[in-house]
Amino acid sequence: MGLELPEESKWDHAESLQELGELVKSAGGEVVDTAIQRRPSPTAAYYIGPGKANELAEVCKKENIGTVIFNDELSPAQSRNLEKVFERKILDRTQLILDIFAQRAKSKDGKLQIELAQLQYLLPRLTGMWTHLSRQSGGIGTRGPGETQLEVDRRRVTDKIARLSRELDEVRQQRSTQRAGRLRQHWPIVSFVGYTNAGKSTLLNRMTHSEVYAADQLFATLDPTTRQFVLPNKQKLLLTDTVGFLKQLPHHLIESFKATLEEVAEADLLLHVVDLSHPLYEQQMEAVQTVLEELNAWGKQMVVVFNKVDRVTNPALVEFALHKHPNSVAISAVTGEGMPQLLEEIEHQVKSWRLRVKLALPNHLTALVAELHRVGRVLDLSYQDDKIVLTAHVPPQLQGKIKPYLVADEEGDFDLPTLAPVTVEDEFSEAGVKKIKDSRAKRHPLAHRNK
Ligand code: GTP
Repeated sequence: MGLELPEESKWDHAESLQELGELVKSAGGEVVDTAIQRRPSPTAAYYIGPGKANELAEVCKKENIGTVIFNDELSPAQSRNLEKVFERKILDRTQLILDIFAQRAKSKDGKLQIELAQLQYLLPRLTGMWTHLSRQSGGIGTRGPGETQLEVDRRRVTDKIARLSRELDEVRQQRSTQRAGRLRQHWPIVSFVGYTNAGKSTLLNRMTHSEVYAADQLFATLDPTTRQFVLPNKQKLLLTDTVGFLKQLPHHLIESFKATLEEVAEADLLLHVVDLSHPLYEQQMEAVQTVLEELNAWGKQMVVVFNKVDRVTNPALVEFALHKHPNSVAISAVTGEGMPQLLEEIEHQVKSWRLRVKLALPNHLTALVAELHRVGRVLDLSYQDDKIVLTAHVPPQLQGKIKPYLVADEEGDFDLPTLAPVTVEDEFSEAGVKKIKDSRAKRHPLAHRNK
């Protein structure tokens, strides 16, 4: 059941409902019927109009429909009232997605995160709800904490939420230790992002010949997977796959999956995988952008990977998409078409990214420090007198902004004034260090004597 509101006309409602249908299938259900009501706004009591609710309740009885799913998040009062009218299980989009996630989560922290999100969603809805349905069991919306859990009192649920949050904090701690280990290795981290079903896992598999689960199901991947990868120019990378994004990804879920999605916020480069064969690929790209903003990962360097070109029959569409989006490539993760161009683009992006600089910023430039954290990688930060002194890898787009604050790096490893790009190979290989030292010696004939 969907509601068509006037201000939401951008997203095609029929398509949005169709997506809800796909979600139902992914959860193991079968769609019997769909309905849309046009209204200026949802009603406080029933979300849809009361007349429509009664009319649909009759249809459900006649057709023996077991569950009614709404294409939005319902308030606790709306769910309760609708259950009374329909005398059936009422689910909303959030619960449906949570249910799919509950089925798919495999790792310990994945399970913790989904359970936490489910409990947080249920907490305000506990009073009296579901009790008359407690004899029904199985089906969509009943996995995860389980219905008996819903009947325990609020306090126990609150305690459990607190316990899960603590456990998740530990997981987060472990993850950040792992990440710190990776940072020490100084390999650029490349994260796949994209709308669910865009082909992220398929692409990761093709690039690394690994067997990450890929299926024509929404949210097949839930747990982040990290793989090593060596580019043709021998540059090493870490590739991480992430959970698929979706329009209206429930807020509870984003919150509790932050530990997983932090991978995205920490990435040096994002590969935004787009299913170009999908009629609404542009809206899906916008939805991904919105989630990136929520994760505070916007403005990062990004390659747009238009995938599934083997299914695109109109070559003009590929041309159009590539022309419209800078730093984009067209590929097929299944046939391998376009892969050399993709690798070339990644090489190019990673190379130009790694400028290491030392900066002394006036204290009040906190916004710039925040930006460096967000789009670059801060390696070291300290406060000296009224200055913030930091060493960071910065992407090219920040060069202009940071120029006035550049200071000489006492370690003298880098050619600061000219901001010459330094590849990882250059920085950490013996040959690279020698090359940099030689070039310093050339420019400052006495420099090597001071060391
Ligand atoms: P989530 O786990 O939902 O985030 O999905 P994902 O983005 O990881 O997508 P996945 O790799 O699981 O692929 C989804 C479906 O698209 C699978 O059936 C793939 O076989 C198919 N697919 C992926 N890439 C291509 C492609 O280039 N061409 C075609 N024809 N199909 C593709």
